[in-house]
Amino acid sequence: MFHSFVYQRSSSKGPQIPGAAPSDPVSENLGDMAKAGSVHEYLIELHEKYGDIAGFWWGKEFAVSLSSVEHWKEIQPLFDKPYEQFKFFEPLFGKKSLTYKNGPEARKKRQLVDRSFGHEAVTHYYDHFTKIAKGTAEKFVTYSQTQEHIPLGKYMLAMAIKAISVAGMGRFFMDKKEIDKMAIAYEEASKSFCWNEMEARLAGPCPAPDSEREKKFQTAKTYMKDTVKNLLNKRKQENNKEEMLFIDSILDCDLMDEEEMSDNVITFLVGGFHTTGFMMTWCLYYLTKHPEVEERVFAELDKVLGDEDIKPQVASELKYTRQVLDETMRASVLAPWGVRIHEFDLQVGEFVIPKETPILLPFGIVLQDPNLWPEPKRFDPDRFSPENIKQLPSLAYQPFGFAGKRKCPAWRFSITERLVFLSVLIRRFKFHLVEGQEVKPVHQLVTSPAEEIWVTVTER
Ligand code: HEM
Repeated sequence: MFHSFVYQRSSSKGPQIPGAAPSDPVSENLGDMAKAGSVHEYLIELHEKYGDIAGFWWGKEFAVSLSSVEHWKEIQPLFDKPYEQFKFFEPLFGKKSLTYKNGPEARKKRQLVDRSFGHEAVTHYYDHFTKIAKGTAEKFVTYSQTQEHIPLGKYMLAMAIKAISVAGMGRFFMDKKEIDKMAIAYEEASKSFCWNEMEARLAGPCPAPDSEREKKFQTAKTYMKDTVKNLLNKRKQENNKEEMLFIDSILDCDLMDEEEMSDNVITFLVGGFHTTGFMMTWCLYYLTKHPEVEERVFAELDKVLGDEDIKPQVASELKYTRQVLDETMRASVLAPWGVRIHEFDLQVGEFVIPKETPILLPFGIVLQDPNLWPEPKRFDPDRFSPENIKQLPSLAYQPFGFAGKRKCPAWRFSITERLVFLSVLIRRFKFHLVEGQEVKPVHQLVTSPAEEIWVTVTER
């Protein structure tokens, strides 16, 4: 699959970056990516062949991937992101989304929105998340009585949509009808927008402007945008702001016009849907495969919480439960890669990466590096015991990214929601995998199961 190549740098100093030659004059290495199955799998093959620093052609652009934590340290301050790798989201996010901003302007805006996901802010979300998870639990009770099969991914995605919509935009979304409408619009938008074909689409054509798919996408997107704009306007006029919502940090920001505010709310909604939904799906799937782990989680939750709802004060006592969630993100390689770019040439190891080269950070490769994580495919929450974790380099576990204070803005929010969701569901039910399923991961921008995972539950 690979034809060796060295990148000809503008400056002739130093050795040249090894890597893959374009295998096709038009699609460069994009066809190879499609053949490998995903960017993540392509990068695995690339690094196996060329080592820790490897170049390839992403469309017309030369890109470099760094797969070792030592090299990550060298590029740790990089903040800016390239446009090319995220341009396919532009019709959904909008062109003023933070995703497409760089430099001092983006840093300032990140600081502002990060506030609504800070330590103090997320403590206010516990009750919302508990209520949402209890709503799901009520539905599961009915299933447990009939032993009906439950589409796990569907329910977890619905919880994720509800959590970010309510926390981000307020009580409007506690109304089931409204949340259902948003969920349908999002599902429709992502289907028509071919979320599930994102990487194929990197190499393939977009839907024609007058196609049915494009029309459906436009309708769904218009609904999402209009809803967000209306909510922003309503919130602007509200005097009673007992709870701090994500949209408040957007509304407080006098650096954004109305379009930019709405683009950013959509960006954060979409950012919070698949990630959380699939994280919970993978977690419960692993627990069905490891009932002894599930029982340890139950025992800890029972001991620490008893019959009480989880509160921020006791979250840190749920040590094993957190280990299980951390191991879920590692084993599933939930978000397999990120990208940075720099305006100057950059020395990394013995190589110079030319300015404006997209620099891929394959988080998933490091999360499954056998030198850091022996038998990396094995699900083993004890890897995250305090003694074991102390032995690892600081960048070994970065499922939310790490570079340039641009890691996932919602990492605390996610850590909280997953803990609350699990604490409600595991205290209520035992989960069992319906037999006869082959569960395979699909590594897109977020790693999802290739097919729905079906489970049954029994009440404890
Ligand atoms: C388990 C859950 C999640 C995982 C694994 C995850 C992972 C990531 C990763 C790896 C990045 C790229 C970081 C980088 O480039 O260094 C990212 C960025 C981002 N995430 Fe998350 N994320 C999760 C949940 C969320 C949630 C709940 C939201 C929204 C509330 C969200 C919103 C975003 C946004 C808006 C960005 C782009 C930020 C920017 O461009 O500055 N994520 N996430």
